[in-house]
Amino acid sequence: MTQADTVELAEGFFTDPHELYRMLRREAPVTPVSTREGMRAWVVTRYEDARPALNDPRLSKDVSRFHEDGPIGFLDRHMLSSDRPDHTRLRKLVSRAFTVRAIARMRPRIEEIAQGLADRMAAKARRDGTVDLLDEFAFPLPMTVICELLGVPDGERDDFRGWSNTLLSEAPPDEHEAAVAAMSDFLSRLVAEKGAHPGDDMLSAIVKASEDGDTLSEGEAASMAFLLLVAGHETTVNLIGNGALALLRHPDQLAVLRGDPALVPNAVEEFLRYDGPVNMATFRYTTEPVEIGGTRIPEDQIVLVSLVSANRDPDRFGDPARLDVTRDVAGHVAFGHGIHHCLGAPLARLEGEIAFRTLLDRFPGLTLAGEPATLSWRHSTLIHGLTRLPVRVGIPM
Ligand code: HEM
Repeated sequence: MTQADTVELAEGFFTDPHELYRMLRREAPVTPVSTREGMRAWVVTRYEDARPALNDPRLSKDVSRFHEDGPIGFLDRHMLSSDRPDHTRLRKLVSRAFTVRAIARMRPRIEEIAQGLADRMAAKARRDGTVDLLDEFAFPLPMTVICELLGVPDGERDDFRGWSNTLLSEAPPDEHEAAVAAMSDFLSRLVAEKGAHPGDDMLSAIVKASEDGDTLSEGEAASMAFLLLVAGHETTVNLIGNGALALLRHPDQLAVLRGDPALVPNAVEEFLRYDGPVNMATFRYTTEPVEIGGTRIPEDQIVLVSLVSANRDPDRFGDPARLDVTRDVAGHVAFGHGIHHCLGAPLARLEGEIAFRTLLDRFPGLTLAGEPATLSWRHSTLIHGLTRLPVRVGIPM
């Protein structure tokens, strides 16, 4: 193929992006892509290009430069859609709550949530034989944690999951619009509720900051809530789902981990590298012509940096398609890089560690139920994750 060919991201890509990425890294490391839904962008696939691109100020995150109103309306006024200095102001407001130290205090509660879900999973497995690991464990764990942290009441969490899934997928325009409307309505009500009846939670503090005036506007407060809620669960679900799939497909690695549970934190890093939850990072927009890896990208183009591809680049990670829970994975870019490096990484790491410790400990006979070939994957350039993951838990403990 020649450099100018546009690559269409077809269904097979979402099921197994690695094959296309292997070819692109070799033959067209920076290349135009399109989707069936009409999205056109440039994708960056090599580690050596991807890492600097993630922190290149010529690649703007400010969606309002590109669209008058972003694809998700007023919900797009958050730190991940901002450049400096707005980004610094917005991130600073919540960054203290997400330090490794602050997050470590949540360990006992997260363990309690994980044990409760494992109990429920065991009971369901006794009844039904197989269970969906995503529905029963991988989704409710991070969702409960982020909702408790922010102070979101229990009632609408499943609706929220549906809207969020639609927003982050390549959905038809009418479904997308309906999800934006439902999500905007939900968040506006939530922000109004926190303003009227503040609690001892992060969202009340964010709303209070917006009422105090000069640090945060009302729209930014709802937008912040949106980002934290979506980023707080969409990705960690797939760290647990993709990680469990990788582990259950590699019984030798499962045995290594069972033999030495102290390796769990490193295994979590390897799961992030091997098949991370974020396929391509969020949209970046060229503010001027930019040359990346020898290819000139014109001004006003969307650039997608593929984290999944960079993390499988053989020039950075030896034998990259091999899962090795003991490998040194320092430098992987599953959490991004630069000023937008994942704010929630300490929380995601802790949740991942607790999730895998709990699964290994409670379900010694955990196996995949059904053929891996029948697994279906989300249709999204952003999220790399399964729609379901049926498992058998062996002898429920
Ligand atoms: C940003 C990945 C969990 C909050 C990011 C980015 C990535 C990422 C790749 C940067 C995107 C870009 O530059 O385009 C992940 C992964 C997670 C995870 C793989 C789980 C395994 C979380 C959690 C939270 C969170 C639990 C909690 C609220 C955020 C926020 C940003 C962000 C607020 C924006 C930071 C900024 O713009 O400065 N994440 N994330 N993430 N993540 Fe996460």
